[in-house]
Amino acid sequence: LSDIGNDIDHVLLTEEQIGARLDEMAAQIDADYAGKDLLLVGVLKGAVMVMADLSRRLHTAATMDWMAVSSYGSGTKSSGVVRILKDLDTDLTDRHVLIVEDIVDSGLTLSWLLSNLRSRGPASVEIAAAMRKPDAVKVDIDVRYVGFDIPNEFVVGYGLDYAEKYRNLPFVGTLAPHVYER
Ligand code: PRP
Ligand code: MN
Ligand code: MG
Repeated sequence: LSDIGNDIDHVLLTEEQIGARLDEMAAQIDADYAGKDLLLVGVLKGAVMVMADLSRRLHTAATMDWMAVSSYGSGTKSSGVVRILKDLDTDLTDRHVLIVEDIVDSGLTLSWLLSNLRSRGPASVEIAAAMRKPDAVKVDIDVRYVGFDIPNEFVVGYGLDYAEKYRNLPFVGTLAPHVYER
């Protein structure tokens, strides 16, 4: 197996840039949730990196839970109809929920997730996403904490995969065309 770095065309966000931005996001979240009991909900699998890095920067007492979801249908990934593969273990009644995501692409996954979690009687539901692609948005959702707005390119790393690979890159980069054109 070759070095996965060979499959990267160019680096979009360095590990240092991501860390610096997460410092700012964590400070904002700390201020907003002061005195509140925060529940972080990570969306598997992409959110694993940002959940680990963002949560460790918080001074607010937080608990964590995880959901795994999948889009229905065979064709394109984001149909907007979502199936729960793994549900939360936590009762959301009166909880302050912060959904943690790696990226908002079309917005369809989060749009569905928002209304699903809101129907469970939480005190609040907000979203923190490491990245957002403004030019790919199909449904507008209010993302309270955004790390970076990035161009509508094929990016991998920092949790983002292509065919389940590249999630473990510590940075975000564009995938070299030779990888998906063969
Ligand atoms: C990716 C990403 C987001 C979602 C964003 O997850 O991690 O969860 O797609 O896409 P959308 O805004 O167009 O709905 P994916 O479904 O690939 O699963 P994964 O996290 O396991 O890679
Ligand atoms: Mn995901
Ligand atoms: Mg994926």
